Amino acid sequence: MASYDVIIIGAGPGGYVSAIRCAQLGLKTAVVEGRETLGGTCLNVGCIPSKALLNATHHLHEAEHNFAKMGLKGKSPSVDWNQMKAYKDDVVGQNTGGIEFLFKKNKIDWIKGWASVPAAGKVKVGDEVHEAKNIVVATGSVPSSLPGITVDNDAGVVVDSTGALELPKVPKKMTVIGAGVIGLELGSVYARLGTEVTVVEYMDAITPGMDADVQRTFKKLLEKQGLQFIMGAAVQGVEANKTKAKVSYKLKKDESEHVLDADVVLVATGRKAFTDGLGLAEAGVEFTERGQVKTDAHWATNVSGIYAIGDAIVGPMLAHKAEDEGMAVAEVLAGKHGHVNYDVIPGVIYTSPEVATVGKTEAALKAEGRKIKVGKFSFMGNARAKAVFQGDGFVKLIADADTDRLLGAAIIGPSAGDMIHEICVAMEYGGSAQDVAMTCHAHPTYSEAVREAALALGDGAIHA
Ligand code: NAI
Repeated sequence: MASYDVIIIGAGPGGYVSAIRCAQLGLKTAVVEGRETLGGTCLNVGCIPSKALLNATHHLHEAEHNFAKMGLKGKSPSVDWNQMKAYKDDVVGQNTGGIEFLFKKNKIDWIKGWASVPAAGKVKVGDEVHEAKNIVVATGSVPSSLPGITVDNDAGVVVDSTGALELPKVPKKMTVIGAGVIGLELGSVYARLGTEVTVVEYMDAITPGMDADVQRTFKKLLEKQGLQFIMGAAVQGVEANKTKAKVSYKLKKDESEHVLDADVVLVATGRKAFTDGLGLAEAGVEFTERGQVKTDAHWATNVSGIYAIGDAIVGPMLAHKAEDEGMAVAEVLAGKHGHVNYDVIPGVIYTSPEVATVGKTEAALKAEGRKIKVGKFSFMGNARAKAVFQGDGFVKLIADADTDRLLGAAIIGPSAGDMIHEICVAMEYGGSAQDVAMTCHAHPTYSEAVREAALALGDGAIHA
């Protein structure tokens, strides 16, 4: 048995980042992790492996659709699926190994196994009980399927995001249930590999929560890449045998019932907080109605000495939100003033083009009755984007009509996930559209489109 200042349960982006910050702040820190490797869902079966597959298939798409236009002729590359998965696994291995290195460097103990919390101050792993002044629950989330649908990742016919990364072969036909982030990212991967992908979505628009103009343009771009959509359709059930599945759904508009055949069904209908087996409820910790650990503004639960962060608590299920909370809770535990600005948390969908958002949507601000102005600039007016056949998207900036203060943004375009941070920094500083518009932007870059959208909120964009 060892005694620590902090024991963090879970080594995903929330937990491992928190551990490093705790150690940097002089706290004796351990992390309990039951997986074979560190990094949690994001590094092992989420963000990182999916980005490797998105990268590989993006290049395939470029070779098939754009190389000839650029004078690069000859046979398109053929797909060696096992090699592509090996490349993905190598990327994962490098990243999870990197966290292990950082743990050693920062003298963080990795307690291997699955933890439970018999009481505040105690963490049980196997037969051992470790003591800690404070415990941070960073156990993340797991896919939440629909009632009546059984996911079996090993069988590889009805899978969730984890199973979709490991399919034994590239399917001919895939049905994706849910047009959210996971469905569209992984749907894109398989569409680029030649799979006939049909996305069935309950709502009338994809990516719920975004502005309608962003949803419409994004959907059109995905359709151009071959994804098909059935909107306003409630999936009723999935029947599967060893090699095929039938997805039955009901259209909301006329209640008509339909069936889709598929080789693989990807269930991407959301995720839920994962706290099974921790015994938190028995230790007196309160939960929300949706099964998330209840915390206050300092990530403290109602039980003194037990904190929680990341997907296990309320808020967007995003790795970087968990990381920020991880750093902030470490600061709280070290007697400092940890803070997360929940108004400036970007969201990125890593399709091609990427979609990135931050702050409030136009619809939300209008619903609040706020006086706003919207500046838009199409990548058609951006020289660099046109050179890489990516003129289809746009930058949209939303600012307060009176003060010009930036309130939100959406970008559909090349490297949108990187470009959004210029706007995040401006928003953190309470910046205005004019601040962005007056900042010199290198030419030719995609970022000029952000400046142009900011100029559109003032005296006008130059290249519109
Ligand atoms: P999601 O909540 O983004 O989307 C789920 C979709 O399924 C919704 O559009 C919903 O309307 C639809 N749906 C639910 N029940 C349905 C039914 N019976 N029939 C048809 N459609 C139905 O969930 P998703 O994509 O599974 O992602 C889970 C979480 O993981 C999200 O919080 C997401 O932000 C996060 N994530 C983030 C990534 C990123 O930041 N790039 C990548 C992957 C996941």
